[in-house]
Amino acid sequence: MRRKNWMKVLVTGGAGYIGSHTCKYLAERGHSVVTYDNLSTGHRELVKWGPFVHGDIRDYASLRRAIHTHEPDGLIHFASVIAVGESVQNPGLYYDINCMGSLTIMQVLRDEGVRPLVVSGSAAVYGLPNVCPVGESAVTNPINPYGRTKLVMEWMLADFEVAHKLPWVALRYFNASGADADGETGEWHEPETHLIPNVLRAVRGGQELKVFGNDYSTPDGTCIRDYIHVSDLAAAHVAALEHLLAGRPSTSINLGTGRGVSVAEIIAKASQVTGKPVPYTVYPRRPGDPAMLVADPARGREVLGWEAKYSDLETILSSAWAWECAGKTAH
Ligand code: UFG
Repeated sequence: MRRKNWMKVLVTGGAGYIGSHTCKYLAERGHSVVTYDNLSTGHRELVKWGPFVHGDIRDYASLRRAIHTHEPDGLIHFASVIAVGESVQNPGLYYDINCMGSLTIMQVLRDEGVRPLVVSGSAAVYGLPNVCPVGESAVTNPINPYGRTKLVMEWMLADFEVAHKLPWVALRYFNASGADADGETGEWHEPETHLIPNVLRAVRGGQELKVFGNDYSTPDGTCIRDYIHVSDLAAAHVAALEHLLAGRPSTSINLGTGRGVSVAEIIAKASQVTGKPVPYTVYPRRPGDPAMLVADPARGREVLGWEAKYSDLETILSSAWAWECAGKTAH
């Protein structure tokens, strides 16, 4: 059991979207944060809440040095590649970073002293679920290399726990969205593949929005997803680390709201929030998109006492719009 009421946390991928929001959340609550990132997709400008270590998660010596130097109480591991389409084109990259990188973290913890590890999982582990909302005990059957790398990571964690007593929580995100309420960080991917930033860029006139399919078996024909505000995700990571530091059991937990929203509903709400039309064209379906993916969020509530607070569409879209208008992302 931990004796102090603050934690020192090493955050891999702390220069990225969810990582930077989590660093801010930790720092605001008096915790100490060290970001470890190779800046391959992260941004140095988003590291604002503690020291920065430039390093790759696949570099055993560098990571071990960082842990030896900073002696964190726990790790939160975000560093990964996340584009489903790219994972189909270049699976080697995905297995290398997401699996080998995660394995290296576990090996360093095994050798340097085990401590709690919270990782970025994904709803992609469920593939095309035949139940909705989907709970953590649903069959995992990922349909692309990205989803498989996230499932392999969970399997490795379970094996390392048995062999080396490594405590872990895997947080399976549904659709991360929105931006920091103070505009200090936000979504910044290059290229951007996610729906909400693409909708907002279409509003600003930078690029056409492609709607991938309106012939799904959903009420309006467009895909339904569970959008969860990135600040809610940040809070869940901290709750998960506290859960492990209190000696409670390792587990996988969905992070979603339980509420499904269609692409057409996002477009309509974006138009309302921005006061502008959203120009779009309907394209064929994007391969691998399930018609509907919505979380059963009960376990997060029961195990972590966590619940989404900022994930209403108004807050998600207005915060994302403010970030988009601030023009901090290069595109
Ligand atoms: N979409 C569009 N146009 C776009 C972008 C997306 O119509 O420009 C549609 C997609 O077809 C999908 C919905 O909007 O129906 C949401 O797409 P996103 O790309 O924003 O998100 P996904 O649901 O595809 O992906 C998310 C995460 C992935 C994760 C996946 C798990 O971003 O990392 O959930 O299923 F793998």
